[in-house]
Amino acid sequence: MSSQQAQSTAQKITRVGVIGAGAMGHGIAQVFAQGGFNVKLNDVSLDFINSGIRKIEANLSRSVEKGKMSEDDKKAALSRVLPTASLDEFKDREFVVEAVLEKIEVKRDVFKKLDRICGRDTVLASNTSSIPITELAALVSNPQRVAGMHFFNPVPVMKLIEIVQALQTSISTIEIIRALSLRLGKTPVVVKDNAGFVSNRVVCPMINEAIFAYEQGIASKEDIDTVMKLGMNHPMGPLELADFVGLDIVLDVLDVLYREYEDPKYRASPLLRNMVRAGYLGRKTKKGFYEYP
Ligand code: 3HC
Repeated sequence: MSSQQAQSTAQKITRVGVIGAGAMGHGIAQVFAQGGFNVKLNDVSLDFINSGIRKIEANLSRSVEKGKMSEDDKKAALSRVLPTASLDEFKDREFVVEAVLEKIEVKRDVFKKLDRICGRDTVLASNTSSIPITELAALVSNPQRVAGMHFFNPVPVMKLIEIVQALQTSISTIEIIRALSLRLGKTPVVVKDNAGFVSNRVVCPMINEAIFAYEQGIASKEDIDTVMKLGMNHPMGPLELADFVGLDIVLDVLDVLYREYEDPKYRASPLLRNMVRAGYLGRKTKKGFYEYP
C-alpha cells in the first residue's frame, strides 16, 4: 500500500474499538468520539465500561460549562460511544486500540483474541507504556498491521501521540495511525520499538532521580517539585507527576528499562519499590508522595 493509499484508508475509517475503560482507555474513547468516530468500548465488565462512560460524560460536561462545547455536540459525542461487553462484537471494527492493564499476559490474551475476531487487515494498536510492541505483533497472523499508539494522560488535553514501530510494522500501518492521530487533533511522532520508547525512557529516569534525591534528604518533596516547576517550567513536579501517572507504572517502566538495557542507571529507587509494595500508588489509591483525601 502506498503512503497515499494508507492516508485515504485512514480518512475512511469510522468504526473504532477501544479495549480498557480505565484512566487511559476512557480518555482514548473520548477523543475518538469527539473526532466523529463510532467507538465500541470494551472492558472486563459492564460496570467498568459504564464507569468509564460516566467519566467521559463528566469531562464533556466540564467543556460545556466552560463554553468550549455545545450541549448538542456533547450528546452527539456520547451517543457515538457504545458499551460493548464482549470482544466478539469487535469483528466489524476497522481500527482497534487496547489500553488494558500493563501486564504482558493480559495484553497477550487480548491480541490473540483480536487476531481471531477481527478482519485480517484491521489495524491493531497498543497504548502500552513499556511492553515491546514487537512481542505483541508476533502474536497475530498479519503482524505488519500492529503498532504502538501511545497516548498521554490526561488524553483529552495532551497533544502528543507516540507511534511505535515494531520490527514487523509496515509503513502503511504507521501512515494510517499518523493520519488518525491528525484527525484527533494530536501531534504524532514516530519512534522505533525500544524499551520506554522516547517518552518514558526520558521521563521515568527523571522521576526516579527525584525520588533518590528525596530519599537522600536533599530537599523536601515540595521543594523538589518546586525546583522542577519553577526552574524548568514543568507543569507538575516529578513527585507530583509520579503520583499522577501511578507509582506502579513508573516502577514497571524502570524495571523494563533496567532489564532491556542492562544499564544500572535505570535501577529503580528502593523507596519507589517499597511504596508500590505498600500500595501507595499515587492518586488512584489516594496516597503516594502526597495524599488525596
Ligand atoms: N481529563 C480531561 N481534561 C482535564 C483533566 C482530565 N483528567 N485534567 C485537567 N484537564 C483539563 C482541564 O479541564 C483544563 O481544561 P481547559 O484548559 O479547557 O480549561 C486543562 O486541562 C488544565 O487543567 P487545570 O486548569 O485544572 O489544571 P492544570 O493547569 O494544573 O493542568 C494538567 C492539569 C493538564 C494535568 C497539567 O498539570 C499537566 O500537563 N501535567 C503534566 C501531565 C503529564 O506530564 N502527562 C504525561 C504523563 S506520562 C504518560 O501519560 C505516559 C504513560 O505511559 C506513563
